Amino acid sequence: MSELLEPTEVLDRTMGTYRRAAPLFASGAGAWVTDGDGKRYLDLISGIGAACLGHGHPRLAAALAEQAGGLGHVSNLYRHGPGEELSWRLCERTDMDAVFFANSGSEANEAALKLARKVQVLRGRPHRQGLVALHGGFHGRTFGSLSVTSNAAYREPFGGMLEATFVDPGDFDALGAALEAEPAALILEPIQGEGGLRELCPRFLRAARELTEATGTILIHDEVQSGGGRTGTFLAAEAAGVTPDVVTLAKPIGAGLPIGACLARGEAATALVPGDHGSTFGGGPFAARAGLAVLDELDAGLQARVGELGDRLAEALDAMAERHGAVFCRRGRGLMQGLVIPGHAATAVSGLFDAGVLACTAAGDVLRFLPPYVLTDDDLELGLERVDGVLSTLPSLV
Ligand SMILES: Cc1ncc(COP(=O)(O)O)c(C=O)c1O
Repeated sequence: MSELLEPTEVLDRTMGTYRRAAPLFASGAGAWVTDGDGKRYLDLISGIGAACLGHGHPRLAAALAEQAGGLGHVSNLYRHGPGEELSWRLCERTDMDAVFFANSGSEANEAALKLARKVQVLRGRPHRQGLVALHGGFHGRTFGSLSVTSNAAYREPFGGMLEATFVDPGDFDALGAALEAEPAALILEPIQGEGGLRELCPRFLRAARELTEATGTILIHDEVQSGGGRTGTFLAAEAAGVTPDVVTLAKPIGAGLPIGACLARGEAATALVPGDHGSTFGGGPFAARAGLAVLDELDAGLQARVGELGDRLAEALDAMAERHGAVFCRRGRGLMQGLVIPGHAATAVSGLFDAGVLACTAAGDVLRFLPPYVLTDDDLELGLERVDGVLSTLPSLV
């Protein structure tokens, strides 16, 4: 807590882009945060999927303190150890050849879209500039990433976008037709996060791979929310056995520090050359050290633990969906799961908030959980108890 700020004081001059909840969070430990009045909340949303090591993680803290006591930020004009080690380890883990480091998911996608167009230019097909994306997809708020985000309400206030065609996930014919039109790239989330925790079926993911290969379209998987170990594997698409040309990551890979990664293989890995793209902060020593700490923890057993927690969460949420008439079904995988509660997901979020649990909605009707990977057994049990309690206050669907 800054010395200038009393916990109860409101000094907020940030723009009104969020409807923020009232309390001022003051401290955190593990999966818990505490507000200025001392009320504790179980954090089942981890900064919308970013703070995968929770709060006050000792090894993350030690790594960052060590970095802060040594080499600071040097920009991408110079080489540094943490960035290079992270680039190597992320490529190894994703089967990619090279990475561009950005600061966020939107920026990672921005790099991916530019990269796709550059590949088409290098192939002698500069006319291939269009983009194909899926209904329900969310890729960010910068102009490029917004252009391929399907929610028209997010795009409409801002005028002209990049040319994009949206197809329904599962509509193989529409996808085929859109790719025949020779776009630069197809971008999709293997599990749509903001779109309501919708998993694309493995057959559709494989068809997307085959059709993009056949039509010379760059396939971009946006795993900003589903990647980084969150679903039990490092990438969600591993389960379908699909490797894209480009994959983007952000959120959990920095454990809360801002980092995004656009990873590419083959010709896409070498398409960008000096002057094509850049970032002052991208992949700096601090964010890279955080990324290395996350990978170390995943290697030391946390990845398996996410899988185990995910299975237990799925089982418990399925049972709740059976028991509570307000719930339509469970969705998602690993520590990216939620319940479809038509008409009442927001009420569930505020009920949980009052009960000391942080969660959020997705696509209006989904109560979404993106808990930190460091959730203990007791945390999980207590969280589920409180979710159960709130669900029992909601009206039945029929
Ligand atoms: C799948 C996906 N892509 C991109 C983004 C944008 O990431 P950021 O908010 O870090 O720019 C998000 C954010 O929620 C996301 O879920």
